[in-house]
Amino acid sequence: MDNTANPVVRAVGLTKVFRDFWGRPKARAVNDIDFEIHEGEVVGLLGPNGSGKSTTVKMLLGLLYPTGGQLSVLGRSPRAVETKREIGYLPEESYLYKYLTAEETLDFFGALFNLSAAERRNRIDQLLDMVGMEHARRRRVGEFSKGMQRRIGLAQAMINDPDLLILDEPTSGLDPLGCREVKDLIMALKRRGKTVIVTSHLLSDVEDVCDRVIILYGGRIRATGTLNELLTVKQETRIVTPELSPETTKKLLELLRGDFREDEFSVDHPRRSLESYFLDVIEQAKRESVETAGVVGGGKIAAYLSEDEKSDAALASLLKEETPETPAPAPEAVKAEETAARVEEKIDALTGDEPKQQSAPMPEPDEESRQNLEAADEKLADLLGKNR
Ligand SMILES: Nc1ncnc2c1ncn2[C@@H]1O[C@H](COP(=O)(O)OP(=O)(O)OP(=O)(O)O)[C@@H](O)[C@H]1O
Ligand SMILES: [Mg+2]
Repeated sequence: MDNTANPVVRAVGLTKVFRDFWGRPKARAVNDIDFEIHEGEVVGLLGPNGSGKSTTVKMLLGLLYPTGGQLSVLGRSPRAVETKREIGYLPEESYLYKYLTAEETLDFFGALFNLSAAERRNRIDQLLDMVGMEHARRRRVGEFSKGMQRRIGLAQAMINDPDLLILDEPTSGLDPLGCREVKDLIMALKRRGKTVIVTSHLLSDVEDVCDRVIILYGGRIRATGTLNELLTVKQETRIVTPELSPETTKKLLELLRGDFREDEFSVDHPRRSLESYFLDVIEQAKRESVETAGVVGGGKIAAYLSEDEKSDAALASLLKEETPETPAPAPEAVKAEETAARVEEKIDALTGDEPKQQSAPMPEPDEESRQNLEAADEKLADLLGKNR
């Protein structure tokens, strides 16, 4: 499939100069950059602090006007209302309204996108489950820890079933489990053909999910390419085998000494990543039911997303795609764990089987919330381009 003919994003000579009160140039945040992003790609926008990542993202969203150059997003101007409808955005800083509960927040954003009440409820249930925040759905966002706010922000960015997701530092403030879940989520979205642009300072996260990176410095592109192109060390060869016996090692070393100097090669044991070790330790603690006062949702998403067919069925429904013809895998394939049972219930609901429980109706916001909501309404509607 040729996805290069109509790029999702095309920037030519894109420039943004911030000016001071008197119109004098203050910062050349983005300086004459060209790039394209194609359908189904996961692209990392990298660079040190102040290199122009967020400014580029804000121009993609139509929140900032470019000073120069051309920019098209989904074939249109970034300021077109139709464009905004098809984009999901997780801002660098949460703009969540602290007096609303988690579900009111998602309901509010769903309403901005004109989703019906039934559709909103359905998506909110799935999204809260997916980001591991089901247990906190009736708590006010203002009470949430940074990581919890990030999770709600992610859910909010997906409420409108966007074709293009722009995530400004999605893993910032998340614990390693949360990071893993966000990465799994990005990979699941990629499998669904969605395009994702992600900025992050956590290079290992970027390495895990991105097909391609664009590295900015001082508002200019310093390097771009697929991770394979950029990172493969062609001058070296690595052979990984099961543990070698002393005899084989000896034979191998003799062979290598025939070709190379002693300081040109090395033989050692590979080391696993700290992330994979950490996740194993936590998984073990969970199995042993060690108590924690922190977020408990992590395992829930992992179970939800780790069973690919299930998560794909859930995502397919969430993302408005055809529900797969084949029903979810047979119940006997599911482990008899509480989390798995919950997933199963969800899949039943998604595949049109009899729902085992009705979701509770959305509680009415109290008077204070309502007033605050009205005040926030204008600002948020403006942010999402509804007033244009
Ligand atoms: N509203 C603004 N007014 C003036 N200057 C700005 C504004 N927003 C950004 N800048 C400047 O533009 C440059 C790029 O900032 P930007 O926020 O795009 O960086 P970033 O790559 O996202 O950095 P970080 O990693 O810290 O998030 C910086 O020099 C910054 O001071
Ligand atoms: Mg930034």
